[in-house]
Amino acid sequence: ADHVDTSNVTEVSDWACKRGATLTHCNEKFTEALELLQNHAELRNEASDYSRALAFRRASCVLKSLPFALTDVQQLIGYKDIGEHVRKVLADILDYGSSPEVEEIRNSEWFHKMKLFTNVFGVGPAIAKSWIDKGWQSIADVRLAGSINKDWRISWGLAFYEDLLTPVTMQEAEAFETLIRTEMKKISPLSIVTVTGGFRRGKSNGHDIDILMTHPDEGAETNILSKLMGALNKCDLVLKGYFTQNTFSSEMLSDDSKKGLRSHFDHFEKWIGICKFPKSFQTDRKLQSVRDSSETLPESAQQLSHYSRTIQHQDVLPSEHVNISADNTMSPCSKHTFKTDDKQKSLTLKRERTEMLEDSSPKSKRFKYEDLSEKEVISLANSDRNWTARRVDLIVSPYSQYYYALVGWTGSKHFNRDIRLYAQKVLGLRLTSHGLFDMKKGEALPASSEEEVFRHLQLPYRDPMERNC
Ligand code: GTP
Ligand code: MN
Ligand code: MN
Repeated sequence: ADHVDTSNVTEVSDWACKRGATLTHCNEKFTEALELLQNHAELRNEASDYSRALAFRRASCVLKSLPFALTDVQQLIGYKDIGEHVRKVLADILDYGSSPEVEEIRNSEWFHKMKLFTNVFGVGPAIAKSWIDKGWQSIADVRLAGSINKDWRISWGLAFYEDLLTPVTMQEAEAFETLIRTEMKKISPLSIVTVTGGFRRGKSNGHDIDILMTHPDEGAETNILSKLMGALNKCDLVLKGYFTQNTFSSEMLSDDSKKGLRSHFDHFEKWIGICKFPKSFQTDRKLQSVRDSSETLPESAQQLSHYSRTIQHQDVLPSEHVNISADNTMSPCSKHTFKTDDKQKSLTLKRERTEMLEDSSPKSKRFKYEDLSEKEVISLANSDRNWTARRVDLIVSPYSQYYYALVGWTGSKHFNRDIRLYAQKVLGLRLTSHGLFDMKKGEALPASSEEEVFRHLQLPYRDPMERNC
């Protein structure tokens, strides 16, 4: 320990958003332990646990950004996010190969049950604790208890527990993205569709798929989501979800005390729910298998076979309407990149007129599975099916807020937390998914690229792949 290299200590910033962190790094053994401690603190969810959880996450972020594998805790001298507790955990791992504190949690029954239960869609630490207090040990125990709640998310989450626990693969995400893009092009040819969340940061799987949408004409984005959901419902891909309206208003900027901008939740129009992903999404991006077997499949799959043709057809065309390149970076937003022909436009108009007529019919039931009883949801889950239930987040942003929304919905969660705190502490500005605001002047700083967002923040640009802290 006499010759520990501490030469890089001063070069490393206190801010995770300045350092950046990639998905893979050379200190996984340590960050895995620290994130388990973070996870444990979050699940305990008592008075001081939030700040403890945050401390573990901050320390984990430091280790992710180290350019070398840790061999001695002395190498961490000078890092403000490494406290006594963390130092002890790391020293134990370095000296004995593991930390007793971490291993105790890893083997704790309480921790296992809490993880098991909070993995149910709609279940947080409080509900998970109440289930443990009832003596329930497993998902089977909870299911046996029958109707236990009024929250549809929990009923659906329990019925489709196994489906929703299986990670969404990159292939499924790509297949779904292609489908959304195809539908959106029909609804509104100029619309922009981007997969955000973990997949945009380069993760190969995730607990859900997050898709952000916008339209280059401000205001034109307002009705695309309900139309898209209508289209998905027609293909029998919608299971259950809920809409939230856009509740953002510029009035929030003039009054610092308004709760609106303080909340870490944003105010975009969105649909959060569960969709059907045909099994073919997992194996074939172009849905070949669905097309090949469409004769023997039910109606929904036949509709999907229509997609497979559309998608394959489009794959051989230059994709001039799509202004998002394969690596998901945005091209400049000049209008000429959004070429559309008149034929397409008149088709869109025709379609919209038809839809308006359809819309005037009684709206008793919007989506096929919306009103299923708990029993019906369970039998749907237990039926012989050729699809998997998947968590989907669809978000719509006005174009003027789009690049801030993109940063916000790309994450990671901790990257957002850090960059927002940095904006506040260092620049005195408020950063949200809606924009960057000077609250004193009541001004917003507009951005027309992610790079511009980072420039406004006086930060070096970080590629989504480097936002994995
Ligand atoms: P996996 O889905 O597990 O792969 O991870 P993920 O990083 O995609 O997480 P998640 O889908 O939960 O969220 C994606 C990003 O959107 C994260 O950076 C979140 O912080 C952010 N996010 C999630 N919900 C909200 C929300 O209500 N408002 C805002 N502004 N951001 C959100
Ligand atoms: Mn996600
Ligand atoms: Mn999400």
